[in-house]
Amino acid sequence: MTKAHFSRFHGANPGLLHFAAHSHHPWPDATQAAHDRYWIDSAEAADRKWVRIFAETVPKAQGHVARLLGLSQPRQVAFAPNTHEFVARLYSCFEPRRRIRVLTSSHEFHSFRRQTRRLEEAGRVQVEEIALDPWETFGERFVAAERSSPWDLVWLSQVFFDSGFVVRDLEAICYAAPPEALVVIDGYHAFCALPVDLSRVHRRAFYLAGGYKYAMSGEGACFLAVPPGCTLRPMDTGWFASFDALEAGSAGPVPYAEDGMRFWGATFDASGLYRFNAAMDWLASEGFTIDRIHAHARALQERFLEGLAHARLDMLTPGHLVPHRGAPRGNFLAFDVEGAEALHERIAGQSVKIDRRGRRLRFGFGIYHDAADVDRLLVVLARALR
Ligand SMILES: Cc1ncc(COP(=O)(O)O)c(C=O)c1O
Repeated sequence: MTKAHFSRFHGANPGLLHFAAHSHHPWPDATQAAHDRYWIDSAEAADRKWVRIFAETVPKAQGHVARLLGLSQPRQVAFAPNTHEFVARLYSCFEPRRRIRVLTSSHEFHSFRRQTRRLEEAGRVQVEEIALDPWETFGERFVAAERSSPWDLVWLSQVFFDSGFVVRDLEAICYAAPPEALVVIDGYHAFCALPVDLSRVHRRAFYLAGGYKYAMSGEGACFLAVPPGCTLRPMDTGWFASFDALEAGSAGPVPYAEDGMRFWGATFDASGLYRFNAAMDWLASEGFTIDRIHAHARALQERFLEGLAHARLDMLTPGHLVPHRGAPRGNFLAFDVEGAEALHERIAGQSVKIDRRGRRLRFGFGIYHDAADVDRLLVVLARALR
């Protein structure tokens, strides 16, 4: 689709077949000048660079996120170096003496899962996890569970990291939660991978994602879309959360910004936002919509699955796909296989970059691939796995 725009990445790894767009997405060439610009701004303006960051870089990045997700108020978008920071900050919104009742799925990424398990160990939270299988009824079962108890926090991925399964019933899920519950959608595997329209849910639910994967911007550019009108006062709070009140002295309750700034931390490396803006500007200038990117990735997946069916590789048949073919899916394919670790090593030995989550091998497809890359991948896999 647009290989030429990834020439620096390809040039740095000649011969590598990189099929991990869902993990570390290559950065388009357009991000390099932006990265350099950060260095130059830091040299030229020293600590005055923050004026530019808050007057230009942050509003621009907020605008991109709002445009891509259909958010009504860009200023509700907060940024942080990683999603872990938002997990901790959201948990800190709850009254510390009361046990937090959490409803989630059994397929959440480690950032949420680890923190939640640790809080559970400490007796701070009580968790119920809804299994994905059978995936056909996941949405209904999740909604029923939401209605069954007075949850404090409902946390769900829009696309599961270990299968690529897309939760389609987002609107029903957001509104089935008890009115007092915080609803948080982890959209990391959806953002810039498939079209997402939050216009009907952003007033009810928090939404988080970041730049490392499909947004092609690398680390340090995670965001949280905070529902407009939110008045929560996270206990874990950085001094950026109330810039305007810094001079006001310390009498009275700790102040918070009216908008999404209330979920900010403190001093951060803004180069991720420079790269994010450059990547999003580039996509827009080339007319690469998220619809097109998703359609391209899905078409390559189908080509790959057809090729696998012909190649008859016992350990990587379409039957190993989770969830099975036909399920709503994001931009990667996950195969559940016996001996995944050894297979992964054999594949890596042929200069093919994919990744593994436990028993699952993940192959990710993106705009820097074309059909010829998929055909090469099939040839190399046949050689590596026969
Ligand atoms: C679903 C999901 N959420 C979040 C993240 C990133 O987490 P963090 O920014 O805390 O490293 C990932 C990364 O793989 C992910 O797959």
